[in-house]
Amino acid sequence: MQNHYHIDSLEAYNQACQDATNTPEDFWDTIARENFDWIAPWESVLEHDLSIPAVSWFKGAKLNITLNCIDRHLATRGSKTALLFEPNDLGQPAVAISYRELHVRVCKMANVLKSKGIQKGDRVCLYLPMIPELAIAVLACARIGAVHSVVFAGFSAAALATRINDCDCKMVITSDGSYRGAKTIDLKAIVDTALLSCEAVQSVLVVKRIGTEITLYKNRDYWIQPLLDAASGVCQAEVMDAEDPLFILYTSGSTGKPKGMVHTTAGYMVYSAYSFKNVFQYQEKDVYWCTADIGWVTGHSYIVYGPLANGATSLMFEGVPTYPDAGRFWEVVAKHKVTQFYTAPTAIRALAKESLSLVEKHDLSSLKVLGTVGEPINEEAWHWYDDHIGKNKAPIVDTWWQTETGGIMITSLPGITKTIPTYATLPLPGIKLALMDDTGQQITTPQGQGKLCITFPWPSMARTIYGNHQRYKQTYFSAFKNVYFTGDGALRDAEGNYRITGRVDDVIIVSGHNLGTAPIEDAINQHPLIAESAVVGFAHDIKGTALYGYVTLKNTNVTNQDQLRKEINAKIRLEIGAIAKLDKIQFTQGLPKTRSGKIMRRILRKIAGKQTDNLGDISTLLNPEVVKDIKENAL
Ligand code: PRX
Repeated sequence: MQNHYHIDSLEAYNQACQDATNTPEDFWDTIARENFDWIAPWESVLEHDLSIPAVSWFKGAKLNITLNCIDRHLATRGSKTALLFEPNDLGQPAVAISYRELHVRVCKMANVLKSKGIQKGDRVCLYLPMIPELAIAVLACARIGAVHSVVFAGFSAAALATRINDCDCKMVITSDGSYRGAKTIDLKAIVDTALLSCEAVQSVLVVKRIGTEITLYKNRDYWIQPLLDAASGVCQAEVMDAEDPLFILYTSGSTGKPKGMVHTTAGYMVYSAYSFKNVFQYQEKDVYWCTADIGWVTGHSYIVYGPLANGATSLMFEGVPTYPDAGRFWEVVAKHKVTQFYTAPTAIRALAKESLSLVEKHDLSSLKVLGTVGEPINEEAWHWYDDHIGKNKAPIVDTWWQTETGGIMITSLPGITKTIPTYATLPLPGIKLALMDDTGQQITTPQGQGKLCITFPWPSMARTIYGNHQRYKQTYFSAFKNVYFTGDGALRDAEGNYRITGRVDDVIIVSGHNLGTAPIEDAINQHPLIAESAVVGFAHDIKGTALYGYVTLKNTNVTNQDQLRKEINAKIRLEIGAIAKLDKIQFTQGLPKTRSGKIMRRILRKIAGKQTDNLGDISTLLNPEVVKDIKENAL
């Protein structure tokens, strides 16, 4: 079998698709064998039974992902920049960390973890800003076989505690605080609050970043720097099994608590590296920048593991797109001669609203590839990105994937396959897609619209939900037999290009962040004056989708509604974080319900979207009279 690791032409793409479809095991066997370092080979490429579901890739193989992301580059790329850190403040210099330096820093951090009792299989929570220590801590965990669980440092103490407890983290690594544009956030204080309810945590390591005063609790909290200074810069990589867990990453579900998606080692490594190489067509001297936070899967796969496995230079940005002004992204691109730039549609929409002079004063001629991820990109934003950032010379890859898929599933390949505004276009070779209709049948015509599914295992798929395999099966493998259901709807054109139409469940994507309605409603309902609530999405010109809350009070005589709105959002901030804030809050006399008591969100979505002409049949509702009231008072 030909090695399809790097697809560099349309013919190569077509051949790879053909080989991956006809002989998937040979396809992945060759890619894995010829492009990575293994301590011991595998006994079988793929074993799977999607009815359980149980999937194993490269069974029996031994490896350590950090040997592939760092050590194997030392001889040829030791002095090459691995991580290029651009701080929040313009006044602070960028920091280039070479592969050689990264090796020493990861080993030191790994030895510190070991000295605090962390062993293979232990879970370590990382609650850090976008500073090099975050990437280093991720890799240090992987070095010793500890399972990292990165929690985005915008989540509240309560949300952090839920995630720490769900997987019994033994250690938390955090910082005194973080910079966010002109503001600072006291992260350590948030951790302290969270840990009031986390019994398994034995130690907290603290990176000094903003220099604020913090409390160090005796025998639990330690400044990390003195420990790093004293630690050895050599640390043998733990020998990991192909299917040993590498990390847990939480994502919102439509119901219940967040789902800890478990990713394992070998398949994830192979797929994140393969997809990075092809989607961004990375070349040795390129400077690649993904603006995501490592707290999300995009940062895991396409800031840390995928780029480093390819010996790339990966830029890490600590700040925000609008500080000190809304030209910051373009300034950073020009300053570091960035060649691939990967961001979210919400950022593009926000920056497109600003003066073009903020773009035009920077030289963006280094850009070869532009990417988007996280939510559908609207046509207007796509063209602005293409015209003003890429100057119609840098193809846009609209990459569709999920925390659960571990890597990009649908995308164009820049310069190789077609780009079509608002279409993610084609699956990567090895990814078998299907659209299902409402009767559960696969749509077999070339054109169609339905629920997006993946019918065959791929190496980087999440293997389970931590501690709840039944929920994993129920959520992803029960809607359609032996097929992975993504939760998204999509349409397919006559040429096989896919366009994602959005979620078909109760997950709402706000500014590219995946939010479940249930936890937000739970937070609202904790307010003593509130009887019940329902949260839906509505179209928003920057966030893509924003949140609209319908809230029924226990006592309708509340006079200061604005105050109550503030309290509701404060409660949400406390329980989840500012990302889940409601843009609109309407007080209602009741919520439309079916006779079995289920809230009819379809109606609420239409009213929030101002599509009140055709609400469908409401006569079967338990309480059709509330609809009139909700319609009349809609915001
Ligand atoms: O609805 C899809 C949307 O984001 C969801 C996955 O969110 P998350 O697990 O947080 O991962 C985001 C980063 C990979 C998907 O189910 N989504 C992601 N990328 C796109 C997208 N929707 C449309 N177009 C995309 N390119």
